[in-house]
Amino acid sequence: MNTDDSYINPDSPPLILEMKGITKSFPGVLANDHVDLELFRGEVLALLGENGAGKSSLMNVLAGLYRPDSGEIYVNGKPVHIHSPKDSMDLGIGMVHQNFKLVDTMTVTENIVLGESDLKFVPNLKKAAEKIREISTHYNLKVNPNKYIGELSVGEKQRVEILKLIYRGAEILILDEPTAVLTPQESDELYKTIRQMTSEGKSAIFITHKMEEVIRFSDWVRVLKKGRLEAVKETASTTPAELARLMVGREVLFRIEKEKYSPGETVLKISNATAAGPDGLKVLDNVSIEIHAGEVLGIAGVAGNGQVELTEVITGLRTLEHGEVILNGSQKTNRSPIEMIKSGVSHIPSDRVAMGIVGDMSVASNLAMKGYREKPIIRGGVLSSSRILEFARKMISVFQISTPSTQTHVKFLSGGNIQKTILAREIDACGDLLVAAYPSRGLDVGATEAVRKEIVKQRDSGRAVLMVSEDLDELMSISDRIAVMYEGRVIGIVDAENCDIEKVGMMMAGVK
Ligand SMILES: Nc1ncnc2c1ncn2[C@@H]1O[C@H](COP(=O)(O)OP(=O)(O)O)[C@@H](O)[C@H]1O
Ligand SMILES: [Mg+2]
Repeated sequence: MNTDDSYINPDSPPLILEMKGITKSFPGVLANDHVDLELFRGEVLALLGENGAGKSSLMNVLAGLYRPDSGEIYVNGKPVHIHSPKDSMDLGIGMVHQNFKLVDTMTVTENIVLGESDLKFVPNLKKAAEKIREISTHYNLKVNPNKYIGELSVGEKQRVEILKLIYRGAEILILDEPTAVLTPQESDELYKTIRQMTSEGKSAIFITHKMEEVIRFSDWVRVLKKGRLEAVKETASTTPAELARLMVGREVLFRIEKEKYSPGETVLKISNATAAGPDGLKVLDNVSIEIHAGEVLGIAGVAGNGQVELTEVITGLRTLEHGEVILNGSQKTNRSPIEMIKSGVSHIPSDRVAMGIVGDMSVASNLAMKGYREKPIIRGGVLSSSRILEFARKMISVFQISTPSTQTHVKFLSGGNIQKTILAREIDACGDLLVAAYPSRGLDVGATEAVRKEIVKQRDSGRAVLMVSEDLDELMSISDRIAVMYEGRVIGIVDAENCDIEKVGMMMAGVK
């Protein structure tokens, strides 16, 4: 194992948590293989690893959701047995999961108070709301205690989860990919809150795929690889490139090679697109864009400024009130999703789990779901199972999908691997136009590289790509031109090469 010498330091603050030799298996998978973890008081530990490396499993062991097959856990030097989330909470460990566990029809206060176990009396909700307000002011976790969970944004729900854990006395906060669902500003605020907590003697473990967050916000990094602890590094003495190599086992290209930009015919032309949302407000306001063959048009913007709605208009999921969608010269305004697929539009949706997958079907069947209309898989009108398997094996290897077998039900894969399955299917079945919403969201560095390379490959082979992203590095390295959206409008379009990041940032904030 690859460990910094500086790790053992006599002046270290007290060790509050220790995991020794934790092993956890599932049918066909060794999720954690003799993993060790140490956490000191006041420390922020980043847990890194590819999708499926075993990060969530290890944290679920701490949170009392999974029982390890073997291994020991010590809290403040004493051996402990964690059999349930309550045991975990009683030890001062609190975890914010990738999918929040809140009740929509209850208020923030009710969620925080009523979930508490051992309620001996009817709780005083007014007093509780008071205390919640105090915590929320102190840690800058802005949320109104009287609102219903159903009314909150994703970022607010996450803050409620954190408030709940602090309210219940968590000393060790675990966050599983907390920023995957946040805007860059919300992410910064979250890390400020974590810093405040650790400066007061609490400790935190967070999981992320974003190297920049690891470098900026952690003290130590542990890298998991295929269930094993691969490395322990002090953040101050490592680099994103080194961490990526430790995770993936090879050099990762942060720059993607691509052919010279030589746009061809117009593939997609959208003119004056206007659409209203459920509250009657315009989600798209007179948007006009064109994408050519052999071109990636990047769409930049803070989430919620019409980017997803734009992709929906192109994929037949949203109707336009005014304006036109023209694909390869043919009128395609307000056509059905099926017609858009048949016309050669592939779609990587932003909400992949809800829209993209059938959990109770195998990886192989999910991969084949779109390709079934094509020649290679269909033979004499019947699905060829050997072709499906061959195709599935190829996709699993190209996209490094970590699955015990081609026949495993997709719902048993880790979140990132479910995403890779959808990406593999859509990119492979791509027609003239690929619409990709947040293609690398939630993916590890290796998979991100694979996806970006695939997108560029589609472009190099003459397809048109519309790519929505919040990641400016991604937009600049992959796009040929970048359109910035603000409040449903395209506020400007810039060439990606030599473009001025600050200018794009200003446009994202609505400044022309
Ligand atoms: N409840 C479960 N049932 C079956 N397999 C699981 C379960 N939870 C995790 N796994 C498997 O364990 C491995 C590690 O998954 P996970 O800990 O979620 O990875 P990570 O969080 O690093 O992406 C994966 O192969 C995953 O499919
Ligand atoms: Mg995970």
